[in-house]
Amino acid sequence: MSDPQTTEQRVARLLGQMTLAEKIGQMSQRDASDGYAPDYLGDGLRAGCIGSVLNVVDADVVNELQRIAIEESRLGVPLMVGRDVIHGFKTVMPIPLGQAATWNPELVKEGARVAALEAATAGVNWTFAPMIDISRDPRWGRIAESLGECVLLTNKLAVAMVEGFQGDDLSATGSIAACAKHFAAYGAVESGRDYATTNVPETELRNVYLRPFRAAVEAGVTTLMTSFSDLNGVPATGNEFLLRQVLRDEWGFDGFVVSDWDSIRQLQIHGLTENDRESAFEAATAGVDMEMHGDAYSNHLAALVEEGRISIDAIDAAVRNILRAKYRLGLFENPYTKPEDLPAVANDHALETARQAALQSVVMLKNDNGALPLSAESMSSVAIIGPLADAPYQQLGTWIFDGDVDLSITPMHAIHSLVGRDVDVRYVRAMDNSRSKINAAFDEAAEIAQESDAAILFLGEESILSGEARSRADINLPGDQAELVRRIRATGTPVIAVILAGRPLTLTNIVDEVDAILFAWHPGTMGGPAIADLLFGIESPSGKLPATFARMVGQIPIYYGQKNTGRPPSPDNVAHIDDIDTRAPQTSLGMSAFHLDTCFTPLFAFGHGLSYAAFEYEHIRTNTHKIRLGETVTISVELANRGDVAADEVVQLYVRDLVASITRPVKELKGFRRVRLEPGQTVTVDFDLHTDDLAFYGRNMQLITEPGEFHAWIGGSSETQLRTEFRIIDSNRFPG
Ligand code: BGC
Repeated sequence: MSDPQTTEQRVARLLGQMTLAEKIGQMSQRDASDGYAPDYLGDGLRAGCIGSVLNVVDADVVNELQRIAIEESRLGVPLMVGRDVIHGFKTVMPIPLGQAATWNPELVKEGARVAALEAATAGVNWTFAPMIDISRDPRWGRIAESLGECVLLTNKLAVAMVEGFQGDDLSATGSIAACAKHFAAYGAVESGRDYATTNVPETELRNVYLRPFRAAVEAGVTTLMTSFSDLNGVPATGNEFLLRQVLRDEWGFDGFVVSDWDSIRQLQIHGLTENDRESAFEAATAGVDMEMHGDAYSNHLAALVEEGRISIDAIDAAVRNILRAKYRLGLFENPYTKPEDLPAVANDHALETARQAALQSVVMLKNDNGALPLSAESMSSVAIIGPLADAPYQQLGTWIFDGDVDLSITPMHAIHSLVGRDVDVRYVRAMDNSRSKINAAFDEAAEIAQESDAAILFLGEESILSGEARSRADINLPGDQAELVRRIRATGTPVIAVILAGRPLTLTNIVDEVDAILFAWHPGTMGGPAIADLLFGIESPSGKLPATFARMVGQIPIYYGQKNTGRPPSPDNVAHIDDIDTRAPQTSLGMSAFHLDTCFTPLFAFGHGLSYAAFEYEHIRTNTHKIRLGETVTISVELANRGDVAADEVVQLYVRDLVASITRPVKELKGFRRVRLEPGQTVTVDFDLHTDDLAFYGRNMQLITEPGEFHAWIGGSSETQLRTEFRIIDSNRFPG
């Protein structure tokens, strides 16, 4: 681990020897994916004009690039080697949204650790992850890469990922620098259209979108990446408020900021600047230290400095941030990759971590009359139907540049291995892909369903439908999948839907046509065995939704932490379009915040997820009803497993601040814990809540905890009604 003082001295010494061109070189990153990079990047490296490369994953090529940078350039500064290692490298974990459904920071951290160790074997020393944009819009394809809609869940998992990638010692072999992205509020793009505009009031920005970034900075994340989007009129890549005021002045971040891919030059396309030179000026002035892939910095920064528009101090500050990261990474001591010093990729531990993550990520949305688990002993045949039952690539999800598809075990194969000896397993794909509208094979699918004891339908979206630039306006199951469900339903055989997708889908049109639903996201390499174990009751589902499932797109944004409004909807003050009496006066329609043509609640709430166990929550209580600012209240509940299988449950604590100087959400997650209970076991689960945990950014943008009345709920989803109260007295202390 590097000593901070020595690091600063080394940075200063090196900076002191650099020419302006070499400094700008450190601020420039080049794509190295196109052929043998040492051939076309060699001259730039020798001249000290490149500080970082991305998208090269061959250890020998990386070593050669490092060798040229170190041995053949004047000052021998090693390179940052970046790559999108988002949810695994060769071994693929569930998509981040699926990992969020585990509500298990330790497991998420281990997934990132495995990814770091594997990526390091290829020479990668910097990942562009974690993506911690809060997202409340499932139309946005990048919700797949996010950790969902909730501030606390995202905070905890963001920290877990940073710790997993960076390890205990950033300079150790196998640790790689993390990059919290996309700073900031990218997840709030209008109508979920990728790259679109974001307009977020400052209180909302600070209370929601910025918080995970602050948590990542406090956890020591090495870098941040700017968002592509326009934020309140100033695109994030040129946004001084974000990059200087908040990030540096308020949070004291001393790592470096990289632009997104060519996002500096895009400032012109946004309409903020006239040309690349002005874009370089805006980005550098705002505080972007390194340009990803574009050439605005390399072409224009020198002239801007010579003209006196950008000070050499500003350049030095940016270069200092970059060099500091390189020293912390230990690159000057150990620039070369030695794969033999690292564990083999896809080793048993990696695969087991992927299996556990997949297992804990699957959310059982519905299970009528105990349709699940299936019992291999009491059935003789099962029908497996659908485009995603045996799709080894699709189950890996978005961002799998390096994922090894040959490692994938599909649900179809896993079910065969698990029960194939006792149960006749029949398979009809029925559709080429999830978007297909050709239903020629539906008859054959219905036939095997008819002849089987249960039909398992593997539905959803293939991986290309979510991720960057994959926004959708209609988030029903695509293609003719709903028709396939109806056809199978008509056979009378119990229908189990396993849905693999990169986003919460509106399942209203199929939810009543199936007996049970397992929502498996894109579960990664080991998705098959995890799903098979859940279907046949070897394990109990324990995932909980990290994002709300809307009934229909028109409800979006719909999330658990909404404000109450002055006219909140409730069952007695809403109406439905089908029940309108046209002769009655308009005021009879409820006059509350709801849509006339759907229910005001979501289809499945944040935190929802069923189990094969029967969990019951009782006796919520606080150790005191009054606390002072600076004190802690303990909120407890009894949790019993009254079922007959052992299972994990994710216990969730929600709070509402009833009266505040800015209105607060109707519920905010303030704690969660995954616990395992044997049949018949009862445990007490306690949460300690300090008054600082209840702080929010108020009207003057200061973090404040305001005295007053609070409600607290504990339960197995955000819909829990098990409530207690406490009061904060004393108004003398404002946490900083
Ligand atoms: C994405 C980033 C990613 C970068 C490099 C961009 O298009 O927005 O998240 O890290 O490409 O691949």
